[in-house]
Amino acid sequence: MISFKFIIVGAVFLCTYLLTCIKNSESAIISNFNVVNYGAKCDGKTDDGKPILEAWKQACNSNIASTVVIPPGNYILGPVDFQGPCKAAVTVRVEGYLRAPSMLDVFKLRDGWIVFRDISGLTIEGGGTFDGQGMIAWKENNCAKSGSCSMPTNIRFTGITNGEVNNITSLDSKMFHMNIIKCNYMTFKGITIDAPVSSPNTDGIHIGRSSMINITGATIRTGDDCVSLGDGSQHISINNITCGPGHGISVGSLGKYPGEQPVVGVIVRNCTLVNTMNGLRVKTWPNSFNGIASGLHFQDIIIDNVSNPVLIDQDYCPDDLCKLQVPSKVKVSDVLFKNIKGTSATKMAIQLKCSKIMPCENVTLDDIDLCYLGNKGNNRNTTSTATSECFNVRPAIMGKLSPPPCLKS
Ligand SMILES: *[C@@H]1O[C@H](CO)[C@@H](O)[C@H](O)[C@H]1NC(C)=O
Ligand SMILES: *[C@@H]1O[C@H](CO)[C@@H](O)[C@H](O)[C@H]1NC(C)=O
Ligand SMILES: *[C@@H]1O[C@H](CO)[C@@H](O)[C@H](O)[C@H]1NC(C)=O
Ligand SMILES: *[C@@H]1O[C@H](CO)[C@@H](O)[C@H](O)[C@H]1NC(C)=O
Ligand SMILES: *[C@@H]1O[C@H](CO)[C@@H](O)[C@H](O)[C@H]1NC(C)=O
Ligand SMILES: *[C@@H]1O[C@H](CO)[C@@H](O)[C@H](O)[C@H]1NC(C)=O
Ligand SMILES: *[C@@H]1O[C@H](CO)[C@@H](O)[C@H](O)[C@H]1NC(C)=O
Repeated sequence: MISFKFIIVGAVFLCTYLLTCIKNSESAIISNFNVVNYGAKCDGKTDDGKPILEAWKQACNSNIASTVVIPPGNYILGPVDFQGPCKAAVTVRVEGYLRAPSMLDVFKLRDGWIVFRDISGLTIEGGGTFDGQGMIAWKENNCAKSGSCSMPTNIRFTGITNGEVNNITSLDSKMFHMNIIKCNYMTFKGITIDAPVSSPNTDGIHIGRSSMINITGATIRTGDDCVSLGDGSQHISINNITCGPGHGISVGSLGKYPGEQPVVGVIVRNCTLVNTMNGLRVKTWPNSFNGIASGLHFQDIIIDNVSNPVLIDQDYCPDDLCKLQVPSKVKVSDVLFKNIKGTSATKMAIQLKCSKIMPCENVTLDDIDLCYLGNKGNNRNTTSTATSECFNVRPAIMGKLSPPPCLKS
């Protein structure tokens, strides 16, 4: 009798063990969530938003790290929210070509096409493309006239911690390509961004109210800033990116709204700017609210045919809708421009236009060699000495400097 009981108990234990094994191996298998298994057609005609979202929900709900796979193919999808929090880390492997609807009516009040929100431990990879199909939206863009914009960003990252975005392409966004808000500890590696030089407000990567963000090895061609750092951008590193065409790499614009957080600790290094409107720029609005931009390092930069290679502009007023006579109240300090070399498309290669009521402090120009290309950059044979001007700042000069500092021609 006793031995029979033991056999029963033993058998129950064995079964429980086997079931756990099966369950574990099952979850190991289903930790890959292929959108095709959820009904994605990837025929370039059917809206695949629902199956993609269903795969995301399963992955996000998985207790172990999991991957949403979007295999090669053509996908059409309307706006999609990849909403967290998730139970474990999630990877989204985009190998396919994703197209947004070109008409704006689908987006109504939505400010993003693909949105990743409130996720800790997110990886995006796979070499895929996010095509925003912005041509129609660009024609309807009246942001400059109205002073405000409501068009969808291609990819939004909101509230992401510990994120990695590798090896994807964003094409022809209706507005900003990527917008990183309230994120911490994210790395962007090998990103390609592409939109025509004439497309309005198609900033490459915008960062705001985020810290510890690294962007490395990106190629950005667009109609507005390649990278822009809005208020609250802290400890940002931008390394080895090529920008152009576009409006350059910008801190700001700052001071337009009340309660903006400081921009602190920005390192832009090893970058190349080609045929851009600006190179390295800090922009703040006149007649502004209070603000701070401090600890900005621009170093080891190649400038090729750039209209305003080095620019601090505290009279930033792109649409001529501001009171220029009232100075900016954004304090700019601890700025380093070091080892900046190449050609300017305008004679004025260095412009430091600081605020009358809040002069820039501790600005250093170290080892700068910029010459004027001549003839609006169209004649590379006629380079000549460039000029510089400074207002409300006395930069410290180190190393060799051409053009000489703060000399108008
Ligand atoms: C980018 O992704 C594609 C597709 O998965 C892959 O073939 C390629 O090796 C990746 N490139 C890098 C630099 O990781
Ligand atoms: C980000 O860049 C900074 C400065 O280049 C570097 O110290 C840091 O290790 C980088 N972080 C990651 C996660 O790559
Ligand atoms: C710089 O980025 C490019 C891609 O734009 C990459 O091919 C190259 O390896 C990177 N170089 C370094 C030193 O990281
Ligand atoms: C800058 O690029 C050069 C050449 O690609 C590389 O050797 C160097 O390590 C890079 N420096 C930084 C800070 O990334
Ligand atoms: C210089 O850049 C301008 C755009 O700002 C462009 O029209 C021109 O063709 C460029 N010149 C060269 C030689 O690439
Ligand atoms: C001046 O600015 C540089 C660059 O940000 C910084 O390293 C240095 O500590 C600053 N010096 C002072 C006295 O604040
Ligand atoms: C620039 O110089 C090269 C070589 O001297 C010459 O062949 C070319 O025609 C010149 N270009 C212009 C626009 O003057």
